[in-house]
Amino acid sequence: MHHFHYQDGELYAEDVPVRQIARKIGTPFYLYSTATLKRHYQVFDEAFSGLPHLICYSVKANSNLAVLRLFAKEGSGADIVSGGELYRALKAGLSPKKIVFSGVGKTPREMREALKAGILMFNVESLGELKTLAQVAKKMGKVAPVAVRINPDVDPKTHPYISTGLKKNKFGLDLETALEAYLFAKEHPHLEIVGVDCHIGSQLTEISPFVEALKRIKAFVNRLKEYDIQIKYIDLGGGLGIVYGEESPPPPREYAQALKQELSGLDVTLILEPGRVLVGNAGILVTKVLYFKETPAKKFLIVDAAMNDLLRPAFYQAYHEIIPVLSKERPKITVDVVGPICETGDFFARDRELPMLRPGELLAIMSAGAYGFVMSSNYNSRPRPPEVMVNGKDFYVVRKRENYARLIAGEKIPPFLEK
Ligand code: LLP
Repeated sequence: MHHFHYQDGELYAEDVPVRQIARKIGTPFYLYSTATLKRHYQVFDEAFSGLPHLICYSVKANSNLAVLRLFAKEGSGADIVSGGELYRALKAGLSPKKIVFSGVGKTPREMREALKAGILMFNVESLGELKTLAQVAKKMGKVAPVAVRINPDVDPKTHPYISTGLKKNKFGLDLETALEAYLFAKEHPHLEIVGVDCHIGSQLTEISPFVEALKRIKAFVNRLKEYDIQIKYIDLGGGLGIVYGEESPPPPREYAQALKQELSGLDVTLILEPGRVLVGNAGILVTKVLYFKETPAKKFLIVDAAMNDLLRPAFYQAYHEIIPVLSKERPKITVDVVGPICETGDFFARDRELPMLRPGELLAIMSAGAYGFVMSSNYNSRPRPPEVMVNGKDFYVVRKRENYARLIAGEKIPPFLEK
């Protein structure tokens, strides 16, 4: 469900014609719908009603301050993976008491920042990290709240680049090593065990891998009890998939129902770290056709957005629906939709049937709200696009378009090359 729809043959974001925004700010640009973001959050949250739970929105999916503020106002916490994300989360007004810190390579500096902020929990991923955290906490005279991320060795049946809970992945600890970590933490005066953590992958379209992971966590929690270790939180991570094309992921209610069943009788608070399911379908990337090009082998629509703006098709061969902003009757053609970057991988779609569009016409690349702008770069010295947020009949630029000066900000010619 989202609030991008056609009205009188033209694409609207809530009550604003997309064309109007393009006219005002140029292309390409990311466009987010407030109503969609709110609805997704509320549907997800309500699905877990009746169960003690905390939603920690996964900041990496879309870290724009406006998006973070919106979720903060809905009551969300945050799942962060860097000092930069902590900085953003705090700036946006997210409560540190609802922040969990994940990631395999937290630096001592990042640990200090998070301890100073007073976050809810560190999701620790190795013995080395746990020991470093203990030292950092000791130096600061603090006690670090920890969970150990376990690797349940469950196949999430998703793209290999985004599956994380398999034995061969770099994430989490196998159960034996995890137990060792808990025993170390139990004895350390500057560590406090508060939870068990896990995240098995992203864009999951089935419930069974989540349930399997939860079963293994439950068994592990029981094992911890034998060592007199009690935990308050089970963090199951994120990963619920969305519809990009043909997928049919379970709706949040079904997902929640399955987890509730597994958790009944356990006296814990469930933490969830959804990213994509909250923001993915709440954003689009709007781009303009520059040229139509026909070679003996292929037809191409060359657009003004590129892989530096939205990397997912190039990186994961991800499918994104592409629709014209004006939906009039036109003949259909089969084209590759490509950007201006000097890489064969710079495409948004291959052999896609689309209406025949002329240069100057606008296209919307759908489901671009998650892992879109956040994965953008300046490759080919392309200034990154603006992010715009629609709210009813109003729209706001929530991150301005970069300019050329910004491209070289921070660069310096050393004295020996001057003159
Ligand atoms: N928690 C942890 C520890 C994670 O690593 C992730 C995502 C999430 C939560 C949120 O997962 P979600 O609910 O969004 O699936 N760039 C890739 C996705 C990478 C996901 C990385 N981790 C893509 O564009 O598909």
